[in-house]
Amino acid sequence: MKRYPLTTLAILLLATGSLGLSAQELPPETQSRVDASRAAVQHFGGSLQGELKQALESGGPLHAIEVCSQRAGEISRDVSTDRRLEIGRTSLRIRNPENAPDAWERLVLESFEARLAAGESPQTMEFYEIYQRGEVREFRYMRAIPVGEACLTCHGQEIRYDVEHALLRMYPDDQARGYEEGQIRGAFTVVQPM
Ligand code: HEC
Repeated sequence: MKRYPLTTLAILLLATGSLGLSAQELPPETQSRVDASRAAVQHFGGSLQGELKQALESGGPLHAIEVCSQRAGEISRDVSTDRRLEIGRTSLRIRNPENAPDAWERLVLESFEARLAAGESPQTMEFYEIYQRGEVREFRYMRAIPVGEACLTCHGQEIRYDVEHALLRMYPDDQARGYEEGQIRGAFTVVQPM
């Protein structure tokens, strides 16, 4: 927690559910960072979803698990390099331990759950903040990832035996099963150096 001197501020902002600014009121630099984050999320999410869909259609869920486990990391690295930022996926219930949230991400994910419980749609849920970490100033952005029907094959409550077996062989500590449609599976997370 000491790493995040603005945690108190974050809690205040999260408690209100937004930065309290409308898009027009944002300083231009902040607006362009928000836009860059949204574009990176679209790039990463779109590429991954496309490959996942294709893998499911061409080889079924067992093949798609392989593709997902290999390509998710590769695509996130490519998009990060292309766009000179860091992008990844995280969750309160992770499948791949490499996607574990840090303290700030955990706080935001918890605030997303509270916003969902308060009736907000997870489809457009996002949060961002500029903060100082020691000498370093960073812009951080997160966007919720809702659970859709297509996700239930590998993240749902009733997973085919062979699919569950394959998942547990690759991810022995998998916590990312048992979801229902409309819940929040996790979030895209972006860091831009300033
Ligand atoms: C074919 C199986 C499969 C399907 C279908 C699938 N996933 Fe996953 N999901 C995986 C695997 C495997 C991983 C671990 C990837 C890795 O190693 O980084 C994963 C990881 C994730 C993560 C990263 C966080 C974590 O738990 O490690 C998110 C977020 C996620 N999936 C969301 C979704 C969403 C949303 C859908 C539906 C649009 C979906 N997944 C559909 C297999 C699947």
